[in-house]
Amino acid sequence: MSNFKGKAVIVTGAAMGLGLAAAEALASKGADLTLVDYNAEALEKAKAELSSKYPESKFITVTADVSVEENVKNYVDETVKAFGKVDGLYNNAGIEGKQAPLIDYDINVFKKKINLVKTD
Ligand SMILES: NC(=O)c1ccc[n+]([C@@H]2O[C@H](COP(=O)([O-])OP(=O)(O)OC[C@H]3O[C@@H](n4cnc5c(N)ncnc54)[C@H](O)[C@@H]3O)[C@@H](O)[C@H]2O)c1
Repeated sequence: MSNFKGKAVIVTGAAMGLGLAAAEALASKGADLTLVDYNAEALEKAKAELSSKYPESKFITVTADVSVEENVKNYVDETVKAFGKVDGLYNNAGIEGKQAPLIDYDINVFKKKINLVKTD
């Protein structure tokens, strides 16, 4: 099935986890993808794997922190430059933080989670 053929989709947090799985699912249906992550090394590895598995799809990578507005503008601009449009966005990048009862939750971890501030 190729119901995403010719569609340009941005996936954030695409280097691993749910973002990479979504990128793979979209590529398997023919989408062209902008893969975004702040982990540049893992992002290039993900692109290499997806490119070899789905040669009919086009892939670009943009290293970006989704919490930084200029970075967001840049990956939208790069998508339009590469594919002429944006058909879809999977706005997935984020941090889980540690899981703990509210009463024990570290306020600094909470602030990072809510603000999407880079932690590593
Ligand atoms: N896995 C779960 O069970 C689960 C449950 C609920 C919500 N979520 C949410 O789904 C999203 C993905 O979860 P996951 O388990 O795949 O996480 P993950 O940690 O495996 O992957 C997240 C990816 O996003 C990237 N990333 C994080 N912050 C970023 C930023 N500011 N800019 C650019 N890239 C950034 C990381 O480098 C990583 O590649 C997260 O927002 C998470 O909070 C996950």
